[in-house]
Amino acid sequence: MIDPPVAVTSSQLSQVYPLGARVNESGHLEIGGCDAVELAREFGTPAYVVAEDDLRARARSFVDAVAARHDDFDVLFASKAFPCTAVCRVLAEEGLACDVASGGELALALSGGFDPARIYLHGNAKSETELREALTAGVGHIVLDSLHDCERLERLVAELGRVQEVLIRVNPNVAGTTHAAISTGQADSKFGFALDQAPAAIARVRASPDLQLVGLHFHIGSQLLELEPFRAAVRAIADLGDFPVYNLGGGLGVPYTVEQHSPAIADYVEAVVGAAHDLLGQGKRLLLEPGRALVANSTVTLYTIEGVKRNVSSWVAVDGGMSDNLRPMLYGSAYEALIADRATASPTERFHVAGKHCESGDVIVRDVPLPEPRAGDILVTPATGAYGHALANNYNGVPRPPVIFCRGGSARVVVRRETYQDLMRRDVGP
Ligand SMILES: Cc1ncc(COP(=O)(O)O)c(C=O)c1O
Repeated sequence: MIDPPVAVTSSQLSQVYPLGARVNESGHLEIGGCDAVELAREFGTPAYVVAEDDLRARARSFVDAVAARHDDFDVLFASKAFPCTAVCRVLAEEGLACDVASGGELALALSGGFDPARIYLHGNAKSETELREALTAGVGHIVLDSLHDCERLERLVAELGRVQEVLIRVNPNVAGTTHAAISTGQADSKFGFALDQAPAAIARVRASPDLQLVGLHFHIGSQLLELEPFRAAVRAIADLGDFPVYNLGGGLGVPYTVEQHSPAIADYVEAVVGAAHDLLGQGKRLLLEPGRALVANSTVTLYTIEGVKRNVSSWVAVDGGMSDNLRPMLYGSAYEALIADRATASPTERFHVAGKHCESGDVIVRDVPLPEPRAGDILVTPATGAYGHALANNYNGVPRPPVIFCRGGSARVVVRRETYQDLMRRDVGP
């Protein structure tokens, strides 16, 4: 036994695992009422398992929290976090609007049933094709990121003889505490108009006969666990003029491990909506754009342990890795893990959970206490709903995992596992 022995606790389950996760009578982890070991048997591993009720509950938490403070608003799902038709469909059903940042995300948002009028197109390098696709689909708002973006959109809109509503993305020069790769609000950023360039951009768009400027947008970064930077960003854009619409971005962080604590959704909403009331005035249309905070903790990944090895460290090798969860490699992100077959067993030793890929950096979890893991066990990593499926890839020719929705004890595949044929689908010629 390691000291202290830490088996999974109910507080750990409620903090990092999806709503309703529990250990059942067989000692197995249960997600959305489904036994994780049976899910692994039925659908294979690796697999993303989503508790549908968790997705719905978080969407409602956002909507209810804003509605309690403000009348005129929309909560946008930042679809980059989990770009999947079924996820879009659930969040559209819950009344959310949608943020897309590419033609592909637009296609997924439309196939998930989002009303195009409530879709917002972002992007620092939108192509002419993507802008045309958005205009053809009737996307309600396009968020301008540069003068070139503005000029190109203006030309395309003029060709159609229409007027397009737009927002301007402003870089507020406010950086929160997060990994540099996902910090976007600092002055030296590829996103948006610098604060000192924003007045000229606003004047330029206001003068356009083809574009109707309705408001400003900022997004200062992702996985932010402190609220003050959001208020500072609102303060930074407050002097840029009076607008009917303000999109205050996403960025609320989530707990990936039991040591991490994130602000509650209601506290975050209170902070940003309160700042908007204080600094932007009443009667505005407010947009929030969460991605991670809506989907991260809704999902766990199931792996099968392929082997255990001891050298300088103790290693558990699983059947997935950086092809299904790139975050540890990109940002050094930390995760929890447990053995779904023996969810309450006391850990015996600390292990690094390594993937199957041909790089030493392919380690999904470091130093995690596990109870005598052995080949064939089902290992689970929680909080993989955000930027897991989104960043999945085919390194080493590994087919990407399925997405399985669980609710009330029933499981359904909403994205099937890729096949070897899928790997060759784009091949041309003999
Ligand atoms: C413009 C914009 N809005 C919202 C988000 C969502 O961020 P998060 O998933 O941290 O909430 C992002 C993430 O990159 C973004 O770029």
